[in-house]
Amino acid sequence: MPKIIVKNMSNLQVKTEGNTTILTALQHSQVDWMHACGAKGRCTTCKAIILKGMNNLNAPNLHEKRFSQLGRLRKNERLSCQAELGEGELEIEVPNSSKLPHISYSY
Ligand code: FES
Repeated sequence: MPKIIVKNMSNLQVKTEGNTTILTALQHSQVDWMHACGAKGRCTTCKAIILKGMNNLNAPNLHEKRFSQLGRLRKNERLSCQAELGEGELEIEVPNSSKLPHISYSY
């Protein structure tokens, strides 16, 4: 079963059915994650830093390519509302810019 590990949330582990966006998988496990535009691919507040498992994600779509070209999404970052985990494991962290004030992050 595909799995997401959020390193700076004390190695929080979320299991997913696969072919699910990172954001949807997190939300199904009651994990709060910033997503200002409502998962429409129009902001970058939902971005995740990908530490391991980039190859287990779908290819970046038009929204992500646009933000990459604008310099708002680095090579090791994906929009959690657009990036889908197929199989395998993914290690991510929340960027400082997207940390929520009511959550204690481990770093
Ligand atoms: S929530 Fe806005 S791009 Fe993902």
